[in-house]
Amino acid sequence: MKIFIDTANLNEIKEAADMGLLDGVTTNPSLVAKEGHKDFKSMLEKICSIVDGDISAEVVSTDYEGIVKEGRELAKIHKNIVVKVPLIKEGLKAVKTFSSEGIKTNVTLCFSPSQALLAAKAGAYLVSPFVGRLDDISYNGMELISQIVQIYGNYDYQTQVLVASIRHPIHFVESCLMGADVCTMPFKVIEQLAKHPLTDIGLEKFLDDWKKLNK
Ligand code: E4P
Repeated sequence: MKIFIDTANLNEIKEAADMGLLDGVTTNPSLVAKEGHKDFKSMLEKICSIVDGDISAEVVSTDYEGIVKEGRELAKIHKNIVVKVPLIKEGLKAVKTFSSEGIKTNVTLCFSPSQALLAAKAGAYLVSPFVGRLDDISYNGMELISQIVQIYGNYDYQTQVLVASIRHPIHFVESCLMGADVCTMPFKVIEQLAKHPLTDIGLEKFLDDWKKLNK
């Protein structure tokens, strides 16, 4: 299981990288806008200098020519850039082109197993099903992950399942049990993965007992 952080906040990326668990970073236009990064290229260069792993950079064009042009430019920035493409018809055409040029893609905004199958057929390197946003509208996001993992296994597709829109540690644990390849999550959820109340209570007791011994 690879762990990616889903943010454009450089401090959070550094802190997660220092924890020694970070395999990559996903960004999207909303996350970049939230941090106010006006210079997208320079932001990506900084991220690539912090993390040696897949760094997803999303295109904002929605037509084939525009997506391909943008994606080629993004891919030139660093060898670890993965071009993030929306799961629309024009996007799938562009993914096919990128795949033939050796440019890695992350096909994003996936909400159904049929979409995921098409992304794999187009040659996507990663597919990003959004579990939290499905849960938000009373669909079972994790059921989608289970279906995609099974479908990819049935036909031996090499596209990696990147579970996105993760909201809490249970999404992560279930993804691990289902055999998804990558989970991307906000820094807050990464911190939650390390937390357990019994760890804190146990540590406090150990340290108290140690102090008593050394009084
Ligand atoms: C994935 O790459 C997206 O950036 C992300 O996971 C979206 O999550 P959200 O639904 O919390 O915005």
